[in-house]
Formats: sequence, structure tokens, C-alpha cells
Amino acid sequence: MASVTLEHVKKIYDNKVEAVHDFNLEIKDKEFIVFVGPSGCGKSTTMRMVAGLEDISEGIVKIGDRVVNDVEPKDRDIAMVFQNYALYPHISVYENLAFSLRLRKMSNEEVHKRVCEAAEILGITEYLGRKPKALSGGQRQRVAIGRAIVRDPAVFLMDEPLSNLDAKLRNQMRSEIILLRKRVDTTFIYVTHDQTEAMTLGDRIVVMKDGWIMQVGTPQEVFDTPHNLFVAGFIGSPQMNFLKANLIKNDGKYSVSLLGVTIPLNEEQNDALAKNGVTTQEIILGVRPEHTTALFENQDNSIECTIQVNEMMGSELHLHLITKNDDKIILRLPTIDLSKEQRAQLSYGSKMYITFKAKVMHLFDPKTEKNLIYG
Ligand SMILES: Nc1ncnc2c1ncn2[C@@H]1O[C@H](COP(=O)(O)OP(=O)(O)O)[C@@H](O)[C@H]1O
Ligand SMILES: [Mg+2]
Repeated sequence: MASVTLEHVKKIYDNKVEAVHDFNLEIKDKEFIVFVGPSGCGKSTTMRMVAGLEDISEGIVKIGDRVVNDVEPKDRDIAMVFQNYALYPHISVYENLAFSLRLRKMSNEEVHKRVCEAAEILGITEYLGRKPKALSGGQRQRVAIGRAIVRDPAVFLMDEPLSNLDAKLRNQMRSEIILLRKRVDTTFIYVTHDQTEAMTLGDRIVVMKDGWIMQVGTPQEVFDTPHNLFVAGFIGSPQMNFLKANLIKNDGKYSVSLLGVTIPLNEEQNDALAKNGVTTQEIILGVRPEHTTALFENQDNSIECTIQVNEMMGSELHLHLITKNDDKIILRLPTIDLSKEQRAQLSYGSKMYITFKAKVMHLFDPKTEKNLIYG
């Protein structure tokens, strides 16, 4: 059990690539933290600096109260699981699990106890006698996790542990990791490029881009109040819609105007914008597909769109629409309430009308890309 602290951490590789710029984060004891972002944004580099597998170019990493910058990986009380399981092929699952314990000169009795416990937690007891090549991908990944569990580390590091598994197994292992976390109850740092994994696993998630932290928050916070365009677009699937619009202020009240319609903002938004000193300006309006209201007829304040693609997902339709300004909009429409006539209307080239409630609208500055309310 331990907290992990990163203060002004920077990584410059030998080839002068600055992979991580100024990383600041306090991970609480027993917290499950996820680093998420596109490939190359510096997730693995940051984790490897915590593990001691990469030198820290600048800044401080602490595990508990101890500065570990110059502490050997084996003395940091951490265990790491990688995407490629890196099992020893020639020895049994049992010996794979026991390996690090034997290096530590632990008694046979204690080794046996820990191996059996870990195998039980992961449901691999019946495979202990097998060699890794006689296991499926999912079973091998469990052994890799087991090797970390037996060490009973203060901090568990996992770098894309599910990326080599197929979609179905990945979903299953994701829920197993949630259960595992409850059973081993220690500090976790988990790296993934997959926003669904980040949202479902993290107590808090750290969204990264180009070596910078874009936002740190609970899954609900980053979903509800993305601080910038990047986070807004990265978290959520299908992606948030972005439309060119204008923020206007009349008689002290703000509203959003686009494509000939004007939508007044709510009281909370009005207060926040006034407090931030925002005036009339161009904006990028962000609205999630599931928050976009679909109308089959033109009403006051609705925006006319043309249907381009209709994706049938079973329980819902994903409609790809285009506005008169060529803005692209995706909306999600539950199929259960649609009449036959309505379904027939949802074909290529048909008209559809959309509108937004004030509370689902996110307002971004086109230049700074910051959220005008929360950024
Ligand atoms: N050993 C290395 N030497 C030089 N550059 C590296 C090395 N490892 C990673 N990088 C670069 O650092 C950046 C971050 O990489 P990485 O931390 O692996 O990203 P992620 O895990 O988010 O995909 C990338 O631009 C990558 O090319
Ligand atoms: Mg990586």
C-alpha cells in the first residue's frame, strides 16, 4: 500500500525527443488511476519512470514518502504487467508464478501459499502444471497478472494488459480486473489507449496528449465537464459533435446562435460565463450524440439536417447528418420507440431536425480550445 507522487516530471530521450513535459499528479493510497490517450502521448514513458525502467530527466517521483528517482526497480515495491505477457516459456505456470519469490529466497512453504492464493484469485489453479504455450491468450494474461499478485506489491502497474486480447475476452478481463482490484486492494496505475477501459476501471483518469496532461478527474467529471476540445472529443463514443456557432450576450443574458436558431443558456451557465468575463464571441459548440434531440418535423428553434448514413446498432440507430453549413452531426436514436413510418423516414437524403437542451451544450473557444465555463 502506498501513494505515488509525481512532481514536475519530465522525460527527454537520448534522441532529444521530449516525451513527457511537466507531469504533476498525486495518486492516493489504494487509488485506481488510469493514464489514457492516443498512441505516443507518453503514457508508457510515465509509467516506466514510476517503475524505474526509464531514467527521470527532471522532477521527482515518490512512492509513499520515499523519493525513488535513484532506487532500483526491484527495490521500489512495485509489480508491472505488460501487453505482451513475457512469461518464461520453458517452465510451468507454477514456476512462472514462483520465480520472483524464489529469487527473494522465500521459503518453499510461503512460495506455495502465495502461488496457490494468486492462482485461486485468477481462476488458473487447474493450469498450474502446464507450460505457457499450452494456454490461451486470456489464460496467459492471467498468469502474467498472477506473477504480479504473488509479490504483494505496494503499487501495481499495468501497461495495456488487455490490448492483445480479442474484443469479447477484453470485456470479460476488464470486469475481472475490477474484481481483482477489490481483492488485492492496493494502488493501481493502469495505461490504456481505450477510453471505455479508462472510464470503467478508473477512480480517476488522466487524459494525456503529446506528453501533456489534458485533464485529471473522475470518469463522470471528464465526461460531464471536459476542460478542452481534446478531452471532449476523446472521451465518449461516438464522439461529441462539434459545430461552429456564436455566443451572444443580450441584456446580460447569454445564448448560442447557429444555423438561424438561438438557444438561451441556463442560469448556471449564465453565472459561470459572467464570472469568467466571457463576452460575445465565436465558439465551437459541443453536443454529444446521445444528447442531441431528434425531431421528425420542423419546430421552433430546430435545425434542418440531411441524413447521410443510418447505422443500425440493434437497440439504437446512429444517424450521420449534415447541416446546411456542412457540419457533420451524429445522433443516437433508440429504436424501441420508433414507429414503422418513422423508420421509413430515416433513409439517405431525408430531412431530419435537431435541437439541443441548454444543459447538454459545451462551449469552447476556437483559439484556445478551452471550455469557456470549466476550462
Ligand atoms: N526509447 C525511446 N527512445 C526515444 N523515443 C522514445 C522511446 N520510447 C518512446 N519514445 C517516444 O516517446 C513518445 C511517447 O512514447 P510512449 O510513452 O511509448 O507513448 P504511449 O505509451 O502513450 O503510446 C513517443 O513519441 C515515442 O516515439
Ligand atoms: Mg505505450
